[in-house]
Amino acid sequence: MKYKHLITKLLDIGAGLYDPLLRLTLAEEEFRKKLLELADLKGHEKVLDIACGTGTFDLMIAKILDRGSIRAIDISPKMLGIAKRKAEQKGFKIHYEVGSSQELPYNHHEFDVVFTSLMFHHLDYQEKQRSLHEIHRVLKPNGRYISVEFGEFPKDFFHRMIIDFTHASGILHGIYPYRLIEEAGFYVVDEIEGPALAGHHRTKYRVLGKT
Ligand SMILES: C[S@@+](CC[C@H](N)C(=O)[O-])C[C@H]1O[C@@H](n2cnc3c(N)ncnc32)[C@H](O)[C@@H]1O
Repeated sequence: MKYKHLITKLLDIGAGLYDPLLRLTLAEEEFRKKLLELADLKGHEKVLDIACGTGTFDLMIAKILDRGSIRAIDISPKMLGIAKRKAEQKGFKIHYEVGSSQELPYNHHEFDVVFTSLMFHHLDYQEKQRSLHEIHRVLKPNGRYISVEFGEFPKDFFHRMIIDFTHASGILHGIYPYRLIEEAGFYVVDEIEGPALAGHHRTKYRVLGKT
């Protein structure tokens, strides 16, 4: 698999370290529970988790879906390998696919709920734009897209340097401008500032509906 962005390649190489690192550095349990609270799943939904990583969130979703189903996709085969093993160990039926958010291998109007968590900082603006269009395409007309993504960068010296280097491309910036949301055919149902992950990196939860 060829990766356009270094950060995605590094995650693929270090896939085995992802779970322990996340547990140590981010308020993982908290942000995943908040996503579920916003989704308010009833158990019958068809759910898609894009950029699912090692699949920890998918296990939480699968526990709730007694009549529904869940599919999950990630660009990294190594991350998915770990996700598959975890689902098998827990006895959950989760359909995993290797693929990109920019070209989702699903039908139009297939899902009630689509999630992304901490994916958009892997994409440049054009990729964010394409991904939002794809999410819109695969969602049912009354479906919801629920995300937690990194918010504004902290204003310290180190992060100011990153802003200067990367702002024009959009890579490393988790949050995407409203213009892209509207352009893709979404409106904002709810938007909440989340806690700072790793002690410094702000997060934003968004619930989007189709206009
Ligand atoms: C920081 S991890 C987040 C994983 C997971 N959502 C979580 O909450 O733990 C980012 C994930 O995005 C995946 N990714 C990056 N670009 C992608 C793309 N265009 N399409 C699908 N997955 C992508 C990476 O392989 C990685 O697994």
